[in-house]
Amino acid sequence: MSRPLGLLASACLLATLATSLPAQVAVASPDGRSRVTLEVRDGRLTWRLDRDSRHLVLPSRLGFRFKDELPLDSGLVIIDSARTTQDTRWVQPWGEVATVRENYNELAIVAEEDTGVVVRDRNGTPLQRRIIVRVRAFNDGIGFRYEFPSQPALREFTIMEELTEFHFADNPAAWWIPSDRPRMDRSEMLYSSSPLSLLRNVQTPLTLESRDRRSYLVIHEADLQDYARMNLKGPACIECRSLAADLAPMADGSKVRGTTPFRTPWRTLQIADRLVDLSPSLLGLKLNPPSQLGPSDWIKPMKYVGIWWGMHINTMTWSSGPRHGATTENTKRYIDFAAANGFGGVLVEGWNTGWDGDWIKNRWAFSFTQSYPDYDLPGLAAYAQSKGVSLIVHNETSGGIVNYEKQMDSAFALYQSLGLHAIKTGYVTDTVDGGHDHWSQYAVRHHRRVIEAAARHHIMVDAHEPLHDTGERRTWPNMMSREGSRGQEYNAWSGDGGNPPEHETILFFTRLLAGPMDFTPGIFDLLIESGPGGRRSPEDARVRTTLAKQLALYVVLYSPLQMAADLPENYEKQPAAFQFIRDVAVDWDTTRVLDARIGDYVAVARRARGGRQWFLGAVTDEDARTLDLPLDFLEPGRQYAAEIYADGPGAHWLDNPLPVAITRRTVSSATRLRVVLAPGGGQAIRLRPLN
Ligand code: NOJ
Ligand code: CA
Repeated sequence: MSRPLGLLASACLLATLATSLPAQVAVASPDGRSRVTLEVRDGRLTWRLDRDSRHLVLPSRLGFRFKDELPLDSGLVIIDSARTTQDTRWVQPWGEVATVRENYNELAIVAEEDTGVVVRDRNGTPLQRRIIVRVRAFNDGIGFRYEFPSQPALREFTIMEELTEFHFADNPAAWWIPSDRPRMDRSEMLYSSSPLSLLRNVQTPLTLESRDRRSYLVIHEADLQDYARMNLKGPACIECRSLAADLAPMADGSKVRGTTPFRTPWRTLQIADRLVDLSPSLLGLKLNPPSQLGPSDWIKPMKYVGIWWGMHINTMTWSSGPRHGATTENTKRYIDFAAANGFGGVLVEGWNTGWDGDWIKNRWAFSFTQSYPDYDLPGLAAYAQSKGVSLIVHNETSGGIVNYEKQMDSAFALYQSLGLHAIKTGYVTDTVDGGHDHWSQYAVRHHRRVIEAAARHHIMVDAHEPLHDTGERRTWPNMMSREGSRGQEYNAWSGDGGNPPEHETILFFTRLLAGPMDFTPGIFDLLIESGPGGRRSPEDARVRTTLAKQLALYVVLYSPLQMAADLPENYEKQPAAFQFIRDVAVDWDTTRVLDARIGDYVAVARRARGGRQWFLGAVTDEDARTLDLPLDFLEPGRQYAAEIYADGPGAHWLDNPLPVAITRRTVSSATRLRVVLAPGGGQAIRLRPLN
């Protein structure tokens, strides 16, 4: 059956269809390999997924529980369905790839509560509520969303629970972080791996690897605009293999308030036969609306430095006083350094009043326009501009959404008037104003307002402690990057000593599948000798990588705003290695994952946007390894100069992290490169065409 959706049809037509439509309908991906079936069984709506005629997801529940209304999950019949297909391409203004192909088959069904079964509300009024489930099947995954059309039986509603389930046929290994830790670490945790059947409360993207490593699935969501973030809760029993949606709550425990017509974000399942095909992950972008912004010359991927690491290693402070980092003089030094090395931005934290005292508790105290007296914002903005550099204005909110929103428009107008086009926001707290969860609908709405207000004032956004990325950058290309995972900062102060060497090899296949991450690579003073008291003892926090691995992270961990996170003086001491950070691109035409195993190693090649230069980054966990990488992605018939930044002799993350061996050789698409990685090491390569 293929025609316009029955919502537009008359009640009488719907009544006729109710008896004639089958209880199950399916849609296949364009390559025919994945097939989603929507089915009503005993009045309950389910979905399932088969691939190459194998069951991947068994019939899994769909539906909702509401406040003061009966659940919408039983007594249903499919009364209508419609199909469409799409095959278009568009160019991303920036990204891991330039061109995205959006090719899907869509099926939408209308399900209605069946009056034959007589579902009544508490007052005895028969309910015939209607719900649409829309499925899009792509070659690289599927998405489905619910829509509540306008209807007398459902106007205003409060969702208490979304009943969506993912009931897996297999018991794959899951790479996960918890969603229920009652501490201020939000998504900033180390990943664990365990069989899906052992999961309890976890965040998405959730990456699943089959036991034979021959199929990969990633559960996530797309187009989260006016809803609660979806976490997942694990199976009720050890033998079970199903996960269920677990929406982040508002302070009163409710999840989502809405009025019909209404639609939820897409629930997405990325599918790949090989691990290397999971990245770059474009499914989420394809399920977001097209860009709202025309050509915008103020949106520019860039590398930046900042008055930042000094606070984390405790040589500077955000607050006022003798070690205040954000002084006019210090900022000028950073601007000069940025200009001399071709960086586009200088981030300055602690420039605005509100940091004195307990800034995490005093969320009302932050001003977003008032500088500390030793920081000349207009003067520095002009100085930066005269050097071709832009200040990145830091807005830590401590979760004080009301305080931020009160000031947001005037603050953004001020920044715009000073010619500043980028902010870094921060939400260091578990709950936001009013005790709402960090990821509740209340917070989701706020984050969208920030993106839109920033766009009005020509401002790019880099969010820390953010909402997780659900592909907003397609619609709002000023939403550049975000944190939302354990970044470099943990290497400065974490009680557990810092990120273990395997960390980034997992991030690549989990957090980074959602979108760009502001990890802030590039620490050269790995033992933090520039911190107070000099070199740290082995148990203290420090960077647990080699120096070459810090360079490789610029290619591996994608971000359109990429920080050179260390102090300028630490780069000045090592100009040869620093050259790679000066050279590396931040915007890409294409991306190829060459070889990888989650938690062990990953090697990625990317071609710089609009050019013929390639960059290659490879990183390993605590084990040394040698990769044999064919360079067949290079243009055939062309010679390339490979500038190789490898782990030097005897390099080891633990006791000898600094040696870097910089060599040059000529390569072509026929070359196989032997990439030798030290324990905790990496390799970064620039490939410049010679002819
Ligand atoms: C945590 C952020 O991740 C970090 O980058 C920032 O410096 C501090 N909060 C202060 O806002
Ligand atoms: Ca953080």
